Amino acid sequence: MKSFLEAGSLGRGGLETLVDEGSRIRDRLDAFEWDGRPLAGRTVANLFFEPSTRTRLSFDLAAQRLGAHVLTFNPANSSVAKGESLRDTAETVSAIGADVLVVRHSRDRAPAEVAEWTGNAVVNAGDGMNEHPTQAVVDLLTMRRRFGRLEDLNIAIVGDIAHSRVANSLMAALDPVGANVTLAGPSHWLPDRDDLPMVPSIDGVLESSDVVYLLRVQTERGGHIDQPYIDRFQMNEDRLTKMKPAAVIMHPGPINRNVEVSDTVADSARSLIGEQVRNGVPARMAVLGALEL
Ligand code: CP
Repeated sequence: MKSFLEAGSLGRGGLETLVDEGSRIRDRLDAFEWDGRPLAGRTVANLFFEPSTRTRLSFDLAAQRLGAHVLTFNPANSSVAKGESLRDTAETVSAIGADVLVVRHSRDRAPAEVAEWTGNAVVNAGDGMNEHPTQAVVDLLTMRRRFGRLEDLNIAIVGDIAHSRVANSLMAALDPVGANVTLAGPSHWLPDRDDLPMVPSIDGVLESSDVVYLLRVQTERGGHIDQPYIDRFQMNEDRLTKMKPAAVIMHPGPINRNVEVSDTVADSARSLIGEQVRNGVPARMAVLGALEL
């Protein structure tokens, strides 16, 4: 692929290839046997115009483990602070010698614009409320390694769906691989679509789900936390007991602890949150390795 901007762009075959490759890389990393350098001599620039811990650091490490040079850019101490535009910044980093631009930005479709302006391979690391496609690869990889399959898994996506680029990419990726998606959220946070079942409380998905995927309430994008929300949607110990014995919870992070998930559930053996973070590096190594450079 030339760039990776939207999770659904690859179709079932492309997504499964990334998951297969990510899983193979994860096994080799775990065994301290990774020795590939397919991006030796290439340069990956991480252009993060919004805060990030997991995505930025895992792209850094993924690119290093593939043998690439890594440029890490901080807008606060760059010429962006002097008013340089996104286009001029991207074209400058491209001219310096970057082969791959990894872009996180608050504006929908900014990474797609960067791809058009520069002609570089671009990976979307989260754009506004649009998409976060590598998070979807991380999540599919995590589900496949836990359940051995994606087909016919029942996945409930819960919470602040309206503001969530994670939810958009996850929905776009789960459909082609044959998983069944149900949405649970307050009516004002549910999307306007009629192709997915939707329920008004987390209690409506507990017994049927293999994965309850909790979303962060995005206060920086207009999400509001109040006690009625916590009462209807928080995953807590009592609700965990109503789930199937093998069912798990996931969350892309960062967590609002004791809002969408209680402390005890977040840190329990039924939580794959740490596993999602661990899969961030191999999943992004698979994505970077699949780019046509
Ligand atoms: N899940 C996720 O995108 O986390 P960061 O904002 O820490 O990168």
